[in-house]
Amino acid sequence: MQTLLINDVNKENIQKAADIIKLGGLVVMPTETVYGLGANALDKTAVTNVYKAKGRPMDNPLIVHLANAEDAEKYAYTNELFYKLAEKFMPGPLTIILPKKDTIPYEVTCGLDSVAIRVPSNKIAHDLIETSGCPIAAPSANLSGKPSPTSFAHVVEDMNGRVDAIIDGGECDIGLESTVIIIKGESAEILRPGKITYEELCEIIPDIKINQAVKNECKDIKPASPGMKYRHYAPSAPVLLVEGEDEDVISFFRNKQETENCGILCFTEDLEKLSLKNILTFGKSDDEEAQAHELFDKLRRFDSMNVEKIYARIPSDKGVGLAVYNRLIRAAGFGIIKANNIQEYKNGKKEKEHRDNRRTAP
Ligand code: TXA
Ligand code: MG
Repeated sequence: MQTLLINDVNKENIQKAADIIKLGGLVVMPTETVYGLGANALDKTAVTNVYKAKGRPMDNPLIVHLANAEDAEKYAYTNELFYKLAEKFMPGPLTIILPKKDTIPYEVTCGLDSVAIRVPSNKIAHDLIETSGCPIAAPSANLSGKPSPTSFAHVVEDMNGRVDAIIDGGECDIGLESTVIIIKGESAEILRPGKITYEELCEIIPDIKINQAVKNECKDIKPASPGMKYRHYAPSAPVLLVEGEDEDVISFFRNKQETENCGILCFTEDLEKLSLKNILTFGKSDDEEAQAHELFDKLRRFDSMNVEKIYARIPSDKGVGLAVYNRLIRAAGFGIIKANNIQEYKNGKKEKEHRDNRRTAP
């Protein structure tokens, strides 16, 4: 398939992309979080083609993107809480799951009776939805399993030849996907953390919960959000997170740099203490927003380094950090090792994978 690359974003080209959507085609659009792979949410065939283009399992539902929150009631049963949240956070990086109306085909929701609604604030996404005149179903525009694309180069790498058009919106502002919450009567639960934090949501919903799958592996329980059961956001080489005091982690990294063909993902301030071989940073340890912005780009960059393993710093799980933590533990398949267990390492024993059960959701 020939993919139209739209670098010059103007009214005429948005119209071209909107016509493609109307005719049942696939268009990659930038959003403020990550790039999305869009299709007319009301067109069953187009929606089915989204799963094919991504190689996405047909049991992982798509988010429906709207030009404004008032349109939500055409596709979902809204309530007072929805409008309270919409007033504060829409347009923006918040996705709200509501009971679905019959207008949304089951191809979008993978047979579920609920639908995920989001109103992106990115102007290109907004204009495309409005000009198309229909809701746009869009997952992140990566090949299934890879880190979500946060730049035009990332989407071209994954989607060129698989979709009808890609719109260049430069780098995404946030760099991690939206916060996903499900409304349950008067309350709600966070299924996927993002830029809109637990703390911010608490101001409107004081008893909002965080689903246990946000921080823990859910092997035996049915996930509330199907996307949570898949290994995600992963570069080709296996990722392991390294836990411990700063000095212990740095000496662990140093040791590994000398003895293994590995990549190191560390905080900016760690850089001066390590050799520059195969090392990438993802922001300062106390700058969660920078970490969110950098993480996916850096995970992708390791693919061109030919390293056999990647060791990464564990970010804080406070504020936006919870979202960074959530993506990174999934990229690592929940593999966490202790930096100060050097004895075990020196003896040449296999590294143990630890599950992080000490950290419980706030
Ligand atoms: O920022 C974002 O949310 C980006 C941009 C493109 O909008 N989109 C995105 O979509 O990240 P995707 O498909 O990669 O992730 C959507 C998540 C998945 O984990 C999916 O399982 C969950 O939302 N989801 C969608 N509909 C759902 C539903 N009805 N019930 C439970 N979870 C749902
Ligand atoms: Mg995704």
